[in-house]
Amino acid sequence: LASIRFDVAPVAEGSSVTIMWRGLPVFVRHRTPAEIEEARAVPLADLKDPQTDEERVLEGHEEWLIMVANCTHLGCVPVGESGDYDGWFCPCHGSHYDTAGRIRRGPAPRNLVVPPYEFVSDTVVQIG
Ligand code: FES
Repeated sequence: LASIRFDVAPVAEGSSVTIMWRGLPVFVRHRTPAEIEEARAVPLADLKDPQTDEERVLEGHEEWLIMVANCTHLGCVPVGESGDYDGWFCPCHGSHYDTAGRIRRGPAPRNLVVPPYEFVSDTVVQIG
């Protein structure tokens, strides 16, 4: 399917699910206020692929981080809630991503990819 709809309501704060979209795994993470704060406190100058947290989430839905779950190095699926930046860690070659899915250390060149998506109701997100 070109686009899918997913009800995020059952995804508790501080947890994530992985869904499939166009054959790709996609992380849907319900971020905690602390994770959002941590992401927003990072100076752009510290980032290899500079992007603000605000550019990676939707205004009014900042708690939801939705990203293709493939490391931008060679495509492994990173492990959540791990790594040195409290986000994701890719065990294949050691890339660390932060709580906005931005690459912070390791061989990956880019941030985890945010697919096109929108909220079509308070809790239903359409990806693609
Ligand atoms: Fe993730 Fe190489 S595939 S670090």
